[in-house]
This record gives sequence, C-alpha cells and structure tokens, in this order.
Amino acid sequence: MPAPIVAVTRSLPAPGIAPLLAAGFDVRHRDVDGPCPPEELHELVRGADGVFALLTERVDEAFLDAAGPQLRVVANMAVGFDNVDVPACSARGVQVTNTPDVLTDATADLAWALILGAARRVPEADRLVRSGAWQGWRPMDLLGLGVAGKTLGILGMGKIGAAVARRAGGFGMRIRYHNRTPSADAATLGAELVDRATLFAASDVVVLTAPSTPETHHIVDAAVLASMKPSAILVNVARGPLVDEAALVTALRAGTITAAGLDVYEFEPRLVDGLAGCDNTVLLPHLGSSTIEARAAMVELACANIVAVLGGAAPLTPVNRPDPRG
Ligand code: GLV
Repeated sequence: MPAPIVAVTRSLPAPGIAPLLAAGFDVRHRDVDGPCPPEELHELVRGADGVFALLTERVDEAFLDAAGPQLRVVANMAVGFDNVDVPACSARGVQVTNTPDVLTDATADLAWALILGAARRVPEADRLVRSGAWQGWRPMDLLGLGVAGKTLGILGMGKIGAAVARRAGGFGMRIRYHNRTPSADAATLGAELVDRATLFAASDVVVLTAPSTPETHHIVDAAVLASMKPSAILVNVARGPLVDEAALVTALRAGTITAAGLDVYEFEPRLVDGLAGCDNTVLLPHLGSSTIEARAAMVELACANIVAVLGGAAPLTPVNRPDPRG
C-alpha cells in the first residue's frame, strides 16, 4: 500500500517535518516562509490524506473539494481554528485538530508584554531614545500608568485568560472576568465573574482572550469603548475581528481610552487607516505563541495528531467529532 500523503503548507520551526517523515508518510512540503495563496494551497492538498495547516490558510468547502474525499485529518498549528470550517470538515468525515495548552504560557507572557508596554509607554520611550531627542531624566517624561492594585478584566476565561490572570497576582491586581460559563480556576485566582458591561466599564486593563466566533465579532465596538474608563488600556491577544478596529482608532485619537496593546488585527496583516499613527499603541505582528519552546511544541503536537489519525488512533487534541459516514 502506498504511504499516506501529508501536505505541509509552509516552512516550519524545529522539529519541522521530521516527525512526519519518521512516521513513513509521503510528505509534500511547501517549504516557503510566506503565505500560501488559495490556488497554490488547493493544488498542494489535492489527493492528500492529511494536511498540516496554519491559521493563515482557509480550510473551507473549496479546500475540501480540492483535497478530495480521501482527506482524513487537518491539523491546525494554532489553538484558534476560526480559519477552519469545522462543520464542513465534520460532514465530510475530516478530523480537525488544534494545538491547545502548549502555547498558553507564551501567549499569557505576551499579553503582559502588551499590558506593561502600553501602560508604561515603552514604544514611545524607545522611539524617543533612538531619535536622539532625549535630553536626560525629567520629572514629567512619558508618565505612564501604574498597574499595581488596579483592576484587570479578562474577556474569555479559558486557559490563556486564566494564565494572564495568574500573572496579575504578582502585581496585586483585582481580577474580574466575563465568560459564558464560570471558570473552574476562578476561586484559586480570586477572580470574580461579572457581566460584560461591568467588565468593560470598571476595569483599568481589559484583555481579550475569547475565540473569534460570530458572537464575538466586534464585541468591542464604539459603544463599548465609550463605556470604558478614559484611563483604561485594551489588550487583544485573541483575534482581530473581536475589535472594531476603525472605532478603536477613533477612541485612541479622542482619548476615549488611554492606550491599546494589539497582537492581532481585524484584517491581518493589514492595519486599518490611522492605527499605525496612534502613538498610544503597542503593535505586535501576531507573536502570541512565538517562543522557540512553544512553536516547537505546536509543531510536535500537530504532527502527533496527524500520525495518530492516519494510524487509526484517536487524535490527541481534537476539535470536532467527524461524521463516520462522511
Ligand atoms: C494563535 O493565534 C493561535 O491561535 O494559536
């Protein structure tokens, strides 16, 4: 019997495709460190039994049509899977997997880099020093906001939200969160469940860690921004579409809120007009999981899911339960 074909859509960090080769698959690797246009993606996955996919690739009906009925697994190298049409995969009997847990700490650390970067105006300060315009210590230089003793609001208290909250203990912050269901970690974290309006109106720092779904689309819009404290900071390490980015630019310019720290964007990698010109922002290029350790663990987990499914075993981190008749 020929070896199963596994398509890999991009260059990967170590261990790369080694686990797939070790499993004896016929690996079709697009070893390119750049986005895969849909036509190329569809050509790549044609006839594949498994696909190692990234969050920048759309796994939709057209992808599934191109791949063909033999496709059994799509392993998404991300915890989020809003790029995947999960019901379409389930209906066709395709197992979808993601990479939860292994990136929780890396993403929570980055949320804190954004919180502190925005609160203490780190990018502005860096630009000042580099510009040569800095004249030495001055009592009023770039005054920022202290976070100690303030209220941290977490929207979406999953594993990443809980890890962000856990780190807030070191800053003596009061923690509030909003979630569809109470968090099992809340008691240990001393976190209080509040309604969404209270979360935004009463927090000094709001961190978004909820998934991107039709329900969370533009969950932060002009009205929500207007309800926040003028001194508040908004941080997004989830997905860009949670925030109406044009409304955010208006709010940042008007001083409706003080600052924002963003790792994700509504129209990634494009920024809406005006955002790059807002000095009161920290803007990162979707780096949440970008540590050597986390990215290696994500590659390993995605590969292990492919090996399991194509070997007839249960996936380690399934997203769906495919229809066996699909
Ligand atoms: C990154 O954004 C992820 O979902 O893993």
